[in-house]
Amino acid sequence: MKKRSFQFATKTVQYYFDASFDLLEKIAGKEKTVLVTDEHVFKAHKKKFKGWNTIVLKPGEAYKIQQTVDVLIDQLIEMGADRKTILVGVGGGVVTDITGYVAGIYMRGIEFGFVPTSLLAMVDASIGGKNGIDVGVYKNMVGLIRQPSFLLYDYSLLASLPLAEWRNGFAEIIKHACIKDAAMFKQLQQHTLKQYQQDKKLLSQLVERNAMIKTKVVLGDEFETGERKLLNFGHTLGHAIENMYELSHGQAISIGMTYAAIMSQQLKGYKDADQVMNLLTRYGLPTMAEFDKKKAFKVLQKDKKKDSVSIQYILLEKNGKGVVQPLLFVQLEEIFKQF
Ligand SMILES: NC(=O)c1ccc[n+]([C@@H]2O[C@H](COP(=O)([O-])OP(=O)(O)OC[C@H]3O[C@@H](n4cnc5c(N)ncnc54)[C@H](O)[C@@H]3O)[C@@H](O)[C@H]2O)c1
Repeated sequence: MKKRSFQFATKTVQYYFDASFDLLEKIAGKEKTVLVTDEHVFKAHKKKFKGWNTIVLKPGEAYKIQQTVDVLIDQLIEMGADRKTILVGVGGGVVTDITGYVAGIYMRGIEFGFVPTSLLAMVDASIGGKNGIDVGVYKNMVGLIRQPSFLLYDYSLLASLPLAEWRNGFAEIIKHACIKDAAMFKQLQQHTLKQYQQDKKLLSQLVERNAMIKTKVVLGDEFETGERKLLNFGHTLGHAIENMYELSHGQAISIGMTYAAIMSQQLKGYKDADQVMNLLTRYGLPTMAEFDKKKAFKVLQKDKKKDSVSIQYILLEKNGKGVVQPLLFVQLEEIFKQF
Protein backbone atom coordinates (compact mmCIF):
# COMPACT_ATOMS: atom_id res chain seq x y z
CA MET A 1 0.00 0.00 0.00
CA LYS A 2 1.18 3.49 -0.85
CA LYS A 3 -0.33 6.42 1.02
CA ARG A 4 -0.20 9.95 -0.35
CA SER A 5 -1.96 13.10 0.82
CA PHE A 6 -2.97 16.09 -1.23
CA GLN A 7 -3.97 19.45 0.10
CA PHE A 8 -6.99 20.85 -1.69
CA ALA A 9 -8.45 24.29 -0.91
CA THR A 10 -10.52 23.18 2.05
CA LYS A 11 -9.43 19.63 2.66
CA THR A 12 -6.54 17.20 2.72
CA VAL A 13 -7.42 14.10 0.74
CA GLN A 14 -5.68 10.79 1.52
CA TYR A 15 -5.03 8.47 -1.40
CA TYR A 16 -4.41 4.81 -0.56
CA PHE A 17 -2.96 3.30 -3.74
CA ASP A 18 -2.48 -0.43 -4.15
CA ALA A 19 -4.52 -1.01 -1.02
CA SER A 20 -6.93 -3.69 0.09
CA PHE A 21 -10.64 -3.11 0.69
CA ASP A 22 -10.12 -4.38 4.26
CA LEU A 23 -8.19 -1.22 5.05
CA LEU A 24 -11.53 0.59 5.01
CA GLU A 25 -12.24 -0.70 8.50
CA LYS A 26 -9.18 1.14 9.79
CA ILE A 27 -9.91 4.33 7.86
CA ALA A 28 -13.62 4.64 8.48
CA GLY A 29 -14.80 2.03 11.00
CA LYS A 30 -17.90 -0.06 10.62
CA GLU A 31 -20.11 1.63 13.24
CA LYS A 32 -20.21 5.14 11.87
CA THR A 33 -19.94 4.33 8.18
CA VAL A 34 -22.61 3.78 5.56
CA LEU A 35 -21.47 2.26 2.28
CA VAL A 36 -23.26 3.21 -0.91
CA THR A 37 -22.90 0.88 -3.85
CA ASP A 38 -24.89 -0.42 -6.81
CA GLU A 39 -26.41 -3.83 -7.54
CA HIS A 40 -23.61 -4.92 -9.90
CA VAL A 41 -20.78 -4.15 -7.53
CA PHE A 42 -22.69 -5.56 -4.56
CA LYS A 43 -23.39 -8.81 -6.37
CA ALA A 44 -19.82 -9.24 -7.58
CA HIS A 45 -18.23 -8.50 -4.19
CA LYS A 46 -20.90 -9.56 -1.68
CA LYS A 47 -18.42 -10.88 0.87
CA LYS A 48 -16.67 -7.53 1.15
CA PHE A 49 -19.89 -5.83 2.26
CA LYS A 50 -20.50 -8.28 5.10
CA GLY A 51 -20.98 -6.47 8.41
CA TRP A 52 -21.15 -3.01 6.81
CA ASN A 53 -24.27 -0.82 6.74
CA THR A 54 -24.88 -0.74 3.02
CA ILE A 55 -27.29 1.01 0.70
CA VAL A 56 -27.53 -0.64 -2.71
CA LEU A 57 -28.64 1.54 -5.62
CA LYS A 58 -29.89 0.57 -9.06
CA PRO A 59 -26.93 0.63 -11.45
CA GLY A 60 -26.28 2.93 -14.37
CA GLU A 61 -26.33 6.52 -15.55
CA ALA A 62 -30.14 6.47 -15.84
CA TYR A 63 -30.25 6.40 -12.04
CA LYS A 64 -27.90 9.35 -11.53
CA ILE A 65 -30.96 11.49 -10.88
CA GLN A 66 -32.79 13.34 -8.14
CA GLN A 67 -35.10 10.40 -7.44
CA THR A 68 -32.13 8.25 -6.43
CA VAL A 69 -30.91 11.06 -4.19
CA ASP A 70 -34.33 11.12 -2.49
CA VAL A 71 -34.30 7.34 -1.97
CA LEU A 72 -30.79 7.49 -0.56
CA ILE A 73 -31.63 10.29 1.83
CA ASP A 74 -34.76 8.45 3.03
CA GLN A 75 -32.65 5.38 3.76
CA LEU A 76 -30.03 7.41 5.60
CA ILE A 77 -32.72 8.92 7.81
CA GLU A 78 -34.17 5.46 8.41
CA MET A 79 -30.73 4.14 9.40
CA GLY A 80 -30.32 7.00 11.83
CA ALA A 81 -27.35 8.51 10.00
CA ASP A 82 -26.21 11.73 11.66
CA ARG A 83 -23.54 14.42 11.26
CA LYS A 84 -20.84 11.97 12.39
CA THR A 85 -21.74 9.39 9.76
CA ILE A 86 -19.18 8.81 7.01
CA LEU A 87 -20.65 8.01 3.62
CA VAL A 88 -18.44 5.83 1.43
CA GLY A 89 -19.23 5.37 -2.23
CA VAL A 90 -18.06 1.94 -3.40
CA GLY A 91 -18.62 1.84 -7.11
CA GLY A 92 -18.19 3.45 -10.48
CA GLY A 93 -18.56 7.12 -11.30
CA VAL A 94 -22.32 7.07 -10.93
CA VAL A 95 -22.10 5.81 -7.35
CA THR A 96 -19.24 8.17 -6.43
CA ASP A 97 -20.95 11.21 -8.00
CA ILE A 98 -24.23 10.54 -6.18
CA THR A 99 -22.55 9.65 -2.89
CA GLY A 100 -20.46 12.82 -2.92
CA TYR A 101 -23.51 14.89 -3.72
CA VAL A 102 -25.69 13.38 -1.01
CA ALA A 103 -22.84 13.70 1.51
CA GLY A 104 -22.67 17.37 0.55
CA ILE A 105 -26.31 18.07 1.28
CA TYR A 106 -27.34 15.56 3.96
CA MET A 107 -27.55 17.50 7.23
CA ARG A 108 -25.80 20.32 5.37
CA GLY A 109 -22.79 18.15 4.71
CA ILE A 110 -21.20 15.02 6.19
CA GLU A 111 -17.82 13.39 5.68
CA PHE A 112 -17.35 11.04 2.73
CA GLY A 113 -14.81 8.85 0.96
CA PHE A 114 -14.62 6.69 -2.14
CA VAL A 115 -13.60 3.18 -3.09
CA PRO A 116 -13.69 3.44 -6.89
CA THR A 117 -14.48 0.10 -8.51
CA SER A 118 -14.44 0.97 -12.22
CA LEU A 119 -11.33 1.97 -14.12
CA LEU A 120 -13.03 5.22 -15.05
CA ALA A 121 -13.79 6.05 -11.44
CA MET A 122 -10.21 5.18 -10.40
CA VAL A 123 -8.55 7.46 -12.94
CA ASP A 124 -11.14 10.18 -13.13
CA ALA A 125 -14.60 10.32 -11.53
CA SER A 126 -13.59 9.79 -7.90
CA ILE A 127 -10.91 12.50 -8.09
CA GLY A 128 -11.40 16.22 -7.85
CA GLY A 129 -14.49 16.70 -5.74
CA LYS A 130 -17.07 17.31 -8.45
CA ASN A 131 -20.25 15.57 -7.40
CA GLY A 132 -23.69 15.70 -8.86
CA ILE A 133 -26.56 14.32 -10.87
CA ASP A 134 -28.15 14.61 -14.32
CA VAL A 135 -31.36 16.45 -15.12
CA GLY A 136 -33.09 15.11 -18.23
CA VAL A 137 -30.59 15.13 -21.08
CA TYR A 138 -28.36 17.58 -19.22
CA LYS A 139 -25.42 15.80 -17.65
CA ASN A 140 -24.20 16.82 -14.21
CA MET A 141 -26.52 19.82 -14.24
CA VAL A 142 -26.93 19.88 -10.47
CA GLY A 143 -24.15 19.34 -7.96
CA LEU A 144 -21.32 20.77 -5.94
CA ILE A 145 -17.56 20.79 -5.61
CA ARG A 146 -16.50 19.23 -2.32
CA GLN A 147 -13.55 16.93 -1.66
CA PRO A 148 -13.75 13.44 -0.14
CA SER A 149 -11.60 12.59 2.87
CA PHE A 150 -10.02 9.61 1.18
CA LEU A 151 -9.77 7.45 -1.92
CA LEU A 152 -9.01 3.76 -1.49
CA TYR A 153 -7.65 1.92 -4.53
CA ASP A 154 -8.10 -1.85 -4.49
CA TYR A 155 -7.23 -3.04 -8.00
CA SER A 156 -8.59 -6.52 -7.34
CA LEU A 157 -12.10 -5.03 -7.55
CA LEU A 158 -11.53 -4.62 -11.28
CA ALA A 159 -11.57 -8.40 -11.75
CA SER A 160 -15.35 -8.29 -12.20
CA LEU A 161 -15.45 -5.20 -14.42
CA PRO A 162 -17.06 -5.93 -17.82
CA LEU A 163 -14.92 -5.36 -20.92
CA ALA A 164 -17.11 -2.46 -22.11
CA GLU A 165 -16.35 -0.67 -18.85
CA TRP A 166 -12.60 -1.21 -19.22
CA ARG A 167 -12.93 0.50 -22.59
CA ASN A 168 -14.82 3.41 -21.02
CA GLY A 169 -11.97 3.84 -18.56
CA PHE A 170 -9.44 3.86 -21.35
CA ALA A 171 -11.35 6.71 -23.01
CA GLU A 172 -10.43 8.95 -20.05
CA ILE A 173 -6.89 7.59 -19.96
CA ILE A 174 -6.47 8.45 -23.65
CA LYS A 175 -7.93 11.88 -22.88
CA HIS A 176 -5.24 12.44 -20.23
CA ALA A 177 -2.56 11.30 -22.69
CA CYS A 178 -3.87 13.71 -25.35
CA ILE A 179 -4.00 16.81 -23.16
CA LYS A 180 -1.10 16.22 -20.76
CA ASP A 181 1.17 13.25 -21.34
CA ALA A 182 2.82 12.56 -24.70
CA ALA A 183 4.94 9.77 -23.18
CA MET A 184 1.85 7.95 -21.98
CA PHE A 185 0.29 8.45 -25.42
CA LYS A 186 3.24 6.49 -26.84
CA GLN A 187 3.05 3.85 -24.14
CA LEU A 188 -0.62 3.30 -24.93
CA GLN A 189 0.20 2.96 -28.63
CA GLN A 190 2.62 0.15 -27.74
CA HIS A 191 0.35 -1.82 -25.39
CA THR A 192 -3.09 -3.37 -25.53
CA LEU A 193 -6.04 -3.40 -23.17
CA LYS A 194 -5.45 -7.10 -22.54
CA GLN A 195 -1.87 -6.46 -21.45
CA TYR A 196 -3.05 -3.91 -18.89
CA GLN A 197 -5.71 -6.34 -17.65
CA GLN A 198 -3.22 -9.15 -17.24
CA ASP A 199 -0.19 -7.31 -15.87
CA LYS A 200 -0.94 -6.06 -12.36
CA LYS A 201 2.13 -3.88 -12.14
CA LEU A 202 1.52 -2.26 -15.51
CA LEU A 203 -2.09 -1.60 -14.52
CA SER A 204 -1.32 -0.15 -11.10
CA GLN A 205 1.30 2.16 -12.63
CA LEU A 206 -1.17 3.29 -15.27
CA VAL A 207 -3.94 3.95 -12.76
CA GLU A 208 -1.61 5.86 -10.45
CA ARG A 209 -0.14 7.90 -13.31
CA ASN A 210 -3.62 8.90 -14.44
CA ALA A 211 -4.87 9.59 -10.94
CA MET A 212 -1.88 11.92 -10.57
CA ILE A 213 -2.56 13.72 -13.86
CA LYS A 214 -6.11 14.45 -12.82
CA THR A 215 -5.11 15.36 -9.26
CA LYS A 216 -2.41 17.79 -10.39
CA VAL A 217 -4.72 19.52 -12.84
CA VAL A 218 -7.42 19.86 -10.18
CA LEU A 219 -4.94 21.03 -7.52
CA GLY A 220 -3.86 23.80 -9.86
CA ASP A 221 -7.43 24.89 -10.51
CA GLU A 222 -9.90 23.35 -8.10
CA PHE A 223 -12.84 25.55 -9.07
CA GLU A 224 -12.31 25.35 -12.81
CA THR A 225 -11.34 28.84 -13.80
CA GLY A 226 -8.57 27.76 -16.16
CA GLU A 227 -6.45 24.63 -16.51
CA ARG A 228 -9.11 22.23 -15.18
CA LYS A 229 -11.14 22.98 -18.28
CA LEU A 230 -8.63 20.87 -20.22
CA LEU A 231 -10.20 17.80 -18.65
CA ASN A 232 -13.24 18.54 -20.76
CA PHE A 233 -11.41 17.45 -23.91
CA GLY A 234 -13.97 15.45 -25.89
CA HIS A 235 -16.64 16.17 -23.30
CA THR A 236 -18.41 19.17 -24.82
CA LEU A 237 -19.75 17.28 -27.80
CA GLY A 238 -19.50 14.00 -25.87
CA HIS A 239 -21.94 15.10 -23.18
CA ALA A 240 -24.32 16.46 -25.81
CA ILE A 241 -24.58 13.13 -27.62
CA GLU A 242 -24.22 10.85 -24.57
CA ASN A 243 -27.80 11.15 -23.38
CA MET A 244 -29.22 11.78 -26.86
CA TYR A 245 -28.15 8.32 -28.01
CA GLU A 246 -27.77 6.48 -24.71
CA LEU A 247 -24.08 6.01 -25.39
CA SER A 248 -21.76 5.08 -22.57
CA HIS A 249 -19.70 7.97 -21.22
CA GLY A 250 -16.53 6.51 -22.73
CA GLN A 251 -18.08 6.01 -26.16
CA ALA A 252 -19.51 9.51 -26.16
CA ILE A 253 -16.28 11.25 -25.22
CA SER A 254 -14.36 9.04 -27.62
CA ILE A 255 -16.48 10.42 -30.46
CA GLY A 256 -16.13 13.88 -28.91
CA MET A 257 -12.32 13.54 -28.83
CA THR A 258 -12.29 12.42 -32.45
CA TYR A 259 -14.13 15.53 -33.61
CA ALA A 260 -12.10 17.78 -31.31
CA ALA A 261 -8.90 16.31 -32.79
CA ILE A 262 -10.19 17.00 -36.31
CA MET A 263 -11.15 20.54 -35.29
CA SER A 264 -7.66 20.93 -33.80
CA GLN A 265 -6.19 20.18 -37.21
CA GLN A 266 -8.31 22.93 -38.75
CA LEU A 267 -7.85 25.52 -36.01
CA LYS A 268 -4.57 24.75 -34.26
CA GLY A 269 -2.33 23.18 -36.86
CA TYR A 270 -2.48 19.87 -34.98
CA LYS A 271 -1.28 17.01 -37.16
CA ASP A 272 -2.13 13.75 -35.44
CA ALA A 273 -5.90 13.28 -35.48
CA ASP A 274 -5.32 9.94 -37.20
CA GLN A 275 -3.14 8.82 -34.27
CA VAL A 276 -5.88 9.74 -31.81
CA MET A 277 -8.43 7.76 -33.84
CA ASN A 278 -6.10 4.76 -34.13
CA LEU A 279 -5.48 4.80 -30.40
CA LEU A 280 -9.19 4.97 -29.61
CA THR A 281 -9.84 2.09 -32.00
CA ARG A 282 -6.98 0.10 -30.43
CA TYR A 283 -8.81 0.28 -27.09
CA GLY A 284 -12.18 -0.71 -28.56
CA LEU A 285 -13.67 2.78 -28.70
CA PRO A 286 -15.74 4.42 -31.46
CA THR A 287 -14.46 7.40 -33.47
CA MET A 288 -16.49 8.90 -36.32
CA ALA A 289 -20.24 8.56 -35.88
CA GLU A 290 -23.47 9.70 -37.43
CA PHE A 291 -25.35 12.00 -35.10
CA ASP A 292 -28.03 14.66 -35.36
CA LYS A 293 -25.82 17.74 -35.60
CA LYS A 294 -28.61 20.24 -35.17
CA LYS A 295 -29.89 18.61 -32.02
CA ALA A 296 -26.38 18.11 -30.62
CA PHE A 297 -25.66 21.79 -31.27
CA LYS A 298 -28.82 22.75 -29.37
CA VAL A 299 -27.91 20.61 -26.36
CA LEU A 300 -24.38 21.95 -26.51
CA GLN A 301 -25.65 25.51 -26.23
CA LYS A 302 -26.89 24.58 -22.76
CA ASP A 303 -23.41 23.38 -21.76
CA LYS A 304 -22.26 24.68 -18.39
CA LYS A 305 -18.99 25.94 -19.90
CA LYS A 306 -20.60 28.50 -22.13
CA ASP A 307 -21.73 32.10 -22.06
CA SER A 308 -24.43 33.47 -24.35
CA VAL A 309 -22.35 33.72 -27.52
CA SER A 310 -19.38 31.43 -27.11
CA ILE A 311 -18.14 28.17 -25.64
CA GLN A 312 -14.78 27.04 -24.31
CA TYR A 313 -13.69 24.19 -26.55
CA ILE A 314 -10.67 22.05 -25.71
CA LEU A 315 -8.36 21.46 -28.64
CA LEU A 316 -4.90 19.96 -29.10
CA GLU A 317 -1.75 21.74 -30.24
CA LYS A 318 0.16 18.46 -30.23
CA ASN A 319 -0.04 15.11 -28.47
CA GLY A 320 0.21 15.83 -24.74
CA LYS A 321 -0.72 19.49 -25.09
CA GLY A 322 -4.35 20.53 -24.79
CA VAL A 323 -5.46 24.16 -24.95
CA VAL A 324 -8.64 26.05 -24.10
CA GLN A 325 -10.09 27.66 -27.22
CA PRO A 326 -13.05 30.03 -26.98
CA LEU A 327 -15.31 29.51 -29.99
CA LEU A 328 -18.29 31.59 -31.04
CA PHE A 329 -21.46 29.55 -31.48
CA VAL A 330 -21.82 30.84 -35.04
CA GLN A 331 -18.30 29.58 -35.75
CA LEU A 332 -19.01 26.23 -34.15
CA GLU A 333 -22.25 25.84 -36.08
CA GLU A 334 -20.32 26.28 -39.34
CA ILE A 335 -17.71 23.71 -38.26
CA PHE A 336 -20.42 21.21 -37.31
CA LYS A 337 -22.01 21.58 -40.74
CA GLN A 338 -18.87 20.18 -42.36
CA PHE A 339 -18.94 16.97 -40.31
N1 LIG B 1 -17.05 13.69 -10.84
C1 LIG B 1 -16.23 13.70 -11.85
O1 LIG B 1 -15.27 14.46 -11.88
C2 LIG B 1 -16.47 12.76 -12.98
C3 LIG B 1 -15.48 12.56 -13.95
C4 LIG B 1 -15.73 11.64 -14.95
C5 LIG B 1 -16.91 10.94 -14.98
N2 LIG B 1 -17.85 11.18 -14.04
C6 LIG B 1 -19.12 10.46 -14.07
O2 LIG B 1 -18.87 9.09 -13.88
C7 LIG B 1 -19.90 8.35 -14.49
C8 LIG B 1 -19.28 7.25 -15.31
O3 LIG B 1 -18.54 6.42 -14.45
P1 LIG B 1 -18.51 4.85 -14.65
O4 LIG B 1 -18.19 4.54 -16.05
O5 LIG B 1 -17.69 4.26 -13.57
O6 LIG B 1 -20.05 4.53 -14.49
P2 LIG B 1 -20.90 3.51 -13.59
O7 LIG B 1 -20.80 3.86 -12.18
O8 LIG B 1 -22.23 3.49 -14.21
O9 LIG B 1 -20.17 2.12 -13.81
C9 LIG B 1 -20.26 1.51 -15.06
C10 LIG B 1 -20.88 0.10 -14.93
O10 LIG B 1 -19.91 -0.76 -14.36
C11 LIG B 1 -20.45 -1.39 -13.22
N3 LIG B 1 -19.34 -1.62 -12.31
C12 LIG B 1 -18.56 -0.71 -11.71
N4 LIG B 1 -17.56 -1.29 -11.05
C13 LIG B 1 -17.71 -2.63 -11.23
C14 LIG B 1 -16.99 -3.77 -10.81
N5 LIG B 1 -15.84 -3.67 -10.10
N6 LIG B 1 -17.45 -4.98 -11.17
C15 LIG B 1 -18.56 -5.10 -11.94
N7 LIG B 1 -19.28 -4.07 -12.39
C16 LIG B 1 -18.85 -2.85 -12.04
C17 LIG B 1 -21.53 -0.47 -12.72
O11 LIG B 1 -22.49 -1.15 -11.97
C18 LIG B 1 -22.10 0.04 -14.04
O12 LIG B 1 -23.00 -0.91 -14.55
C19 LIG B 1 -20.71 9.33 -15.32
O13 LIG B 1 -21.89 9.61 -14.64
C20 LIG B 1 -19.84 10.56 -15.36
O14 LIG B 1 -20.57 11.77 -15.47
C21 LIG B 1 -17.65 12.06 -13.04
